[in-house]
Parts: sequence; structure tokens; C-alpha cells
Amino acid sequence: MSINPKSPHLDFLRVTERAALLAARWVGKGKKHEADDAACQGMRSALNELNIAGTIVIGEGEMDEAPMLYIGEAVGTGIGPDVEIAVDPLEGTNLCANGMPNAIAVLAGTIKGEGHLLHAPDCYMDKLVVGPECKGIVDITVPPKVNIRLMSKALGKSVEEVTIGILDRDRHRGLIEEIRETGARVHLISDGDLTVALAALDPDSGVDALMGSGGAPEGVISAAAALCYGGEMQAKFLWSSDEERERAVGMIQGDVDRVMTTTDLASGHVQFCATGITSGDILKGVRYRRDYALTESILMRSKTGTIRRIQTMHRNIKRRDDIPGGY
Ligand code: FBP
Repeated sequence: MSINPKSPHLDFLRVTERAALLAARWVGKGKKHEADDAACQGMRSALNELNIAGTIVIGEGEMDEAPMLYIGEAVGTGIGPDVEIAVDPLEGTNLCANGMPNAIAVLAGTIKGEGHLLHAPDCYMDKLVVGPECKGIVDITVPPKVNIRLMSKALGKSVEEVTIGILDRDRHRGLIEEIRETGARVHLISDGDLTVALAALDPDSGVDALMGSGGAPEGVISAAAALCYGGEMQAKFLWSSDEERERAVGMIQGDVDRVMTTTDLASGHVQFCATGITSGDILKGVRYRRDYALTESILMRSKTGTIRRIQTMHRNIKRRDDIPGGY
């Protein structure tokens, strides 16, 4: 399938849709590895149908750790533009396995030379994501209460109405307490901070910011979304060892301990595409009907700032095992 170099995100849509359709077979079955495997197979088979010379820059892990969609894996037919692709075929493996909201299939891509996605190491980072109205006013290095006060002004609502999305983790106990002390609301999630980053960017979601630490690979994909939305992401890598930090020095230009801005993580012309697996803050999940399946996706590109929401009726998919892809 030829891709349209002007808007490859329209072709990426089939990729996240197929990953979502396949992962959705496993919703609520308690089998996160099977769900992840299905999403990877779907995403990879759809990517390999595209006329691109694609390279996975953020994926399922290093070559020796992941059988599919590993970092450096070539995808596509090899004919067409060089495209760098960051993928998370199943963001929220536990959410999918446990039938909980907010599992998505997601990718960000850029044609080589037109944009940049940081080849981030697989470690944690501290994150702050806000939507367009709060762009330029927050600072990850100051206490959360200061950012919340500034956000309340920029959003034109009281501090009591400001809502912060945060992963429910022991490491965030202090942060949650500090946010609640300001009077602001906390939107706790058990997994999937990339979806909450999307919610923070969307002015209608009810979530105003993402705070706290999570995976760096998810952070780069969140930054691609922030760039497309006109929002902002700031982040700081959290090294678990000197060795991990040393490895990153070879991968990342400049000071690896600095505050990484949106454009340090994702810049230029990037494309973003996500499809819901289970219904959540941003997207409806896959719904299988007797004669078809329905998916909902969000597609964005930074060049134009266009944000599309696409509902697809898959009339060729009548049963859960009717999904194209040759397996
Ligand atoms: P998976 O889909 O790989 O399970 O990741 C889910 C997730 O919640 C991410 O959204 C988040 O960035 C990361 O895990 C947080 O890691 P941890 O669970 O170790 O706190």
C-alpha cells in the first residue's frame, strides 16, 4: 500500500486499528502477554504492508528482548520514504487484561529529515504535560502547588477545579498529598500515563495536567501528541543506576540530566495516531457487533495541527477472529 507522504497518519490509522482489533480479543481475559502479543502482531503486519522504509526507534525493547517491533527493526516494504516510528502496540497491558478503561494502541512517526523523535532509553522519567492554555507557564522544577496556582489562572478556574492525572503508585504518595493540600483534584489511574497525557492535552477531557513519573518511551510518544496539540511536555530522566545514565549519554545529545522540553523529545513534522482498545478518557474501545466491528481513533500531525477523530466501521470483520493480517 502506497503511503501519502503528506499525511502518513492516515495510513498509520490502519496500523493502530489492526493492533486494537486484535488486542481487543483479549480484553478482560486476564492474559496480558497474549494481549500484547496480539497487538504487536497486528501492528507489525499492518506496518509491513505500507510502502515505507520504516525503522522502529521506540518499540517493545532491544532486539534480544523482543521478538517483534524491537528497536532498530525494519518495517514496511522497503519502498518509499524513510520513516522513524515510535510504537506502543498495547499501552496499558494490565488495563486490557483486566477489562479496565484506557487501553490504547498508539504510534508516532516522522519522515526522516522532516522531524525527530528522541531515541529514549527504556527507563523512567518525571513528566509534566499540559494543554495549549497552560503552555509556557508551568515549570517541572518548581513545586506542584506553584504550577497548580499558575494553571488555575491560565485556565480561568479555581484551584479547587484543577484536576491532575497521576499514576497510582507508592512513589507518588507525597506528590498526591501535596496536590490535594492545594485543594486541587487528583485523577488517579492504575496504568497508562500516555492516555492521561492525551487527556491533559484535550481541553474537554476534565484532566488539566499529567504529573509524576512513568516510562520514558511513553513519554516520547506523549511529547509527539503535545507537539501536535500545541500543548507542552517537560520531563526529567530518572536513572536507576550509573550504568543506565552512562548508556543514555551515548544516545542523547546534550546534558542528559537537563529538563527535556517537548521539542527535545519530539520536533518538526511528526504524526500521531491512537486507537482505543477499551473505552476511556479519550477514546471509545473496540466494539464487536454481530456483523461488524467499530473502532475510534485520534489522528494528528504537527505540521498543520489538525486533530481528527475517526470512527471506523469494519464491515469485513464479523467475528473476533475475522481480522486481516494473515494469521
Ligand atoms: P505497559 O502497557 O507496558 O504495561 O505500561 C503501562 C504503564 O502504566 C505506562 O503507561 C507507564 O508509563 C508505565 O507503565 C509506568 O510504569 P510502572 O508500572 O512501573 O510504574
